[in-house]
Amino acid sequence: MKKINSLSDLLMDELAGLLSAENLLIKSLTEIALACESSGLSFVLEEHAATSMNQARRLQDIFNNIGQNPPKVICEPIKRSISEAQGIIKKTPQGPARDTALISTASRIEQYEIDKYQEVLEHALILGHTQMVELLNKSIQEERLMNFYLNELAQYMINVQAIGSKLSHKVQSPVKNGRVNIREGFNRKTAKKKFKDREISRYIDEGDSNTL
Ligand SMILES: [Fe+2]
Repeated sequence: MKKINSLSDLLMDELAGLLSAENLLIKSLTEIALACESSGLSFVLEEHAATSMNQARRLQDIFNNIGQNPPKVICEPIKRSISEAQGIIKKTPQGPARDTALISTASRIEQYEIDKYQEVLEHALILGHTQMVELLNKSIQEERLMNFYLNELAQYMINVQAIGSKLSHKVQSPVKNGRVNIREGFNRKTAKKKFKDREISRYIDEGDSNTL
């Protein structure tokens, strides 16, 4: 293990930790998505896997730009969360209980990523890596948007369960043309209020009004 003697070393270690996190998620999220009953949750997890691929590429670009190879680091918190998700899949049959437990784990993963990216961005800022800050900021915005979708979806699932099985078909999120409609769980006004960031507001405005 390489010793950390400076803020620069710490930044390299943290970036490598993020790269490890993204690579672990790329490998596992699709498998977790396949185990969900809710098509909305599967869709969000698949989206997260695709976003993780972009973010891993971005981190690799950061290392290329500074002419360094990423140190060998394993992101233990994400590794543990993935094991937790695999444990949930083993011990619960496919259904609402499994989905509810998986959505909690996915939210914890997302929160960890947001906090970690923010921390690394601050260190990059102190060291004056302007281009790196820009790239990290893109990933933070994506993570926040993903977290928002998860929270909305969690609320939607709670509503479905609260309404009860008799009426649940009325609020079920259907898959339409290969995309998932989570209209009932997606409040555009709340999204815009929460995300003043232009890029995200635009994304919300330009998105199909009924689909993610
Ligand atoms: Fe990520």
